[in-house]
Amino acid sequence: MKITRRNIFWLKVAMHLVALTPIIYLVLLVLSESAGGDPVQYIIHYTGIGALNTLVMMLLISPIARRFKLGPIVQTRRLVGLYVFAYASLHLMAFISLDLLFEWSLLWQETIKRPYILIGMFSYIILFALAITSIPALRHKMGRQWQTLHRLVYLATALIPIHFYWSVKSEIIEPSIYIAIAVILLLIRAPLKRLLSKNILM
Ligand code: HEM
Repeated sequence: MKITRRNIFWLKVAMHLVALTPIIYLVLLVLSESAGGDPVQYIIHYTGIGALNTLVMMLLISPIARRFKLGPIVQTRRLVGLYVFAYASLHLMAFISLDLLFEWSLLWQETIKRPYILIGMFSYIILFALAITSIPALRHKMGRQWQTLHRLVYLATALIPIHFYWSVKSEIIEPSIYIAIAVILLLIRAPLKRLLSKNILM
């Protein structure tokens, strides 16, 4: 299939709709008081899962482009990446405003007391750095350093499912599935052949 500029435009429009619809749905749920018995936890979970799902979608774009020879679709990666950051920002804001009620000292205490919050913070800093440096002028200015910095997305991909796993008390099936997905996505990028040739797996 030939991908034209027009196709990419409509693909981006579809991606905006897919990313924005769950946010509008969440607002409607909260306004109609249908966000469960504990709306604060509901919003934190909803936006956290939203950020993680969007990250998985972003990481699938390159393998799909390669497998189905749809090179131009990689142009949508930046847009999806910015939605990962937007969802993660909503998640952090919900935690600070609704759960901690802007008690900044509590944020610091939680970060040093709970390893999953520390990992979340660290992952968020990575996403923040990637979002800021995705501005085309900055990307241009950074040259090769840009690619080195943007490889940190793989570190965030490994850390965020761990954040999820450690945040739950007993229900470990869902976070375990995300850990498996992250491992697969990371292995796709470091093909087994390359690992074998460097004797890493031997
Ligand atoms: C900025 C620092 C972060 C803080 C302070 C934070 C805080 C939290 C909190 C309080 C929870 C709920 C734990 C509970 O069950 O009580 C949570 C869960 C979660 N967070 Fe984060 N988080 C951060 C960053 C991130 C990032 C960057 C992502 C993804 C991109 C993320 C994804 C998730 C997911 C998927 C869950 C589990 C949701 C569920 O239980 O269904 N978090 N986080």
